Amino acid sequence: MSQAGRAVAPALVARGITKRFPGVVANDSVNFDVARGEVHTLLGENGAGKSTLASVLCGLYRPEEGQLLRNGAEIRLNSPRDGLSQGIAMVHQHFRLVDRFTVAENVVLGHKSLSFVLDNAAIEERVASITQEFGLPLDPRAVVGELSAGERQRVEIVKALYQGAELLLLDEPTALLAPPEVEKLFITVRAMTHAGKSVVFVSHKLGEVVDISDRITVMRAGKVTGSVRRGDADVRRLAELMVGREINIVPRRAKSPTSDVLLSISQVHLEREGAEILTDINLEGRAGEIVGVSGVAGNGQRDLAEVVAGLRMPQRGNVTVCGVPTSRAGALGARRAGLAYVPEDRLGTGLAPSLSMVDNLVLTRKRGFIVDRKSALRESEGFIRQLEIKTPGPLTPTRKLSGGNAQKVLLARELFAVSGARVLIVCSPTRGLDVGAVEAVHALLDEARDAGKAILMISEDLDEVMTLADRVMVLYRGRITLEQAGIDADLDRIGRAMAGLAS
Ligand SMILES: Nc1ncnc2c1ncn2[C@@H]1O[C@H](COP(=O)(O)OP(=O)(O)O)[C@@H](O)[C@H]1O
Ligand SMILES: [Mg+2]
Repeated sequence: MSQAGRAVAPALVARGITKRFPGVVANDSVNFDVARGEVHTLLGENGAGKSTLASVLCGLYRPEEGQLLRNGAEIRLNSPRDGLSQGIAMVHQHFRLVDRFTVAENVVLGHKSLSFVLDNAAIEERVASITQEFGLPLDPRAVVGELSAGERQRVEIVKALYQGAELLLLDEPTALLAPPEVEKLFITVRAMTHAGKSVVFVSHKLGEVVDISDRITVMRAGKVTGSVRRGDADVRRLAELMVGREINIVPRRAKSPTSDVLLSISQVHLEREGAEILTDINLEGRAGEIVGVSGVAGNGQRDLAEVVAGLRMPQRGNVTVCGVPTSRAGALGARRAGLAYVPEDRLGTGLAPSLSMVDNLVLTRKRGFIVDRKSALRESEGFIRQLEIKTPGPLTPTRKLSGGNAQKVLLARELFAVSGARVLIVCSPTRGLDVGAVEAVHALLDEARDAGKAILMISEDLDEVMTLADRVMVLYRGRITLEQAGIDADLDRIGRAMAGLAS
């Protein structure tokens, strides 16, 4: 944002930043700058080095090499406090608030004027004026422990502004937010840049950054791979910069849906310690389709999966898998009826972490099946090639694999190695995975759908649901509050339903 005729030094410039951790170069000669009044997004897959760079920019990490310039002059930051004295503040992905303190108390916590006598009324007034100016609705007297994730994030932002931040680094600020809250956050970001502040917006979600950014810089494996200005941002090109190869982001839908109902959930009601967890759940899964259940975490998704998987017995209602009633048959009964299950917790309940891929594959074979390790070994080698699983070999314990590779092993087992399963429940199938691995996992699910399986996919990732599901449902406080066909799913209505707002 240079002014006519006169070059203005960017608010912050990072030159040749290199930051190493044992065994990894987290930032490798990174150049980055942000101007006054600008939103500059740092985009990249998990592990690309975004948080590390942001931490260098705010003074939390000291790089081994490189230079920082603030408004044209070199600065040295030895701590976040140094950063703050330069007007630079970071809102971390994991909040750093004191739960039992009020909003106002958290905001002033650690602030240098704390040594002076604090005037509560004055603080509350100042907090109220910040919340108003930047669209951050908060009650200064509310206790932080009772706030939602979105509200806590606002406290962090208010705190940064209270401390005089002119440049805010927001690390994955949308990770915990429902879509309407993301909209609110974007309004705040715009209000901040309108007031001349600079925002570095860190994200791994391609879909959300295009609207909010003046510039987008992409990182991969510690390096900057490209940078585009608003208007030149092409989603496919950005995705390629993120993963370093060509990819296709296209919605995948059922090619040959049938009317065969393989999974039926009717009138399911679940209580725990007297509280209703699931209320009146009715849902059918047909051969050759993916039903996507979306919702913000903690609205009963996990319980629903566990009821279907036979791990939890509902107080009322029925589940049938391929015509066999399973709601009282336990996990083994559900499996015998033809259910495969990919839980959220891949290495906990999904895979046996100390066992090899081969042993994990044979683990769920039907009883009485004579386990032929040699053929399981061949099968594993096939999966490793086909799914590009990065592992030293099929005999390596699965706990040594990265999240994405462990997920591929689990999916391979549940989708292909378990004979006879026609119904699959998958929970957050790509959470924490890189764009490349996400593609591979989506392709697997698509293939399983084409093979005639009925798939129930429970996911907090709305992009994922929108890309894959033939029918979309929203679970809110244990009830299905919205159902739409995937092909004409309305993102806005789904977002509102996820937040519990009437559509
Ligand atoms: N405190 C740390 N100690 C050791 N390694 C780290 C630390 N922080 C990050 N890393 C490593 O540095 C790389 C970049 O991580 P990070 O900056 O967190 O990426 P991103 O925020 O893009 O997901 C990763 O390989 C990560 O494992
Ligand atoms: Mg990060």
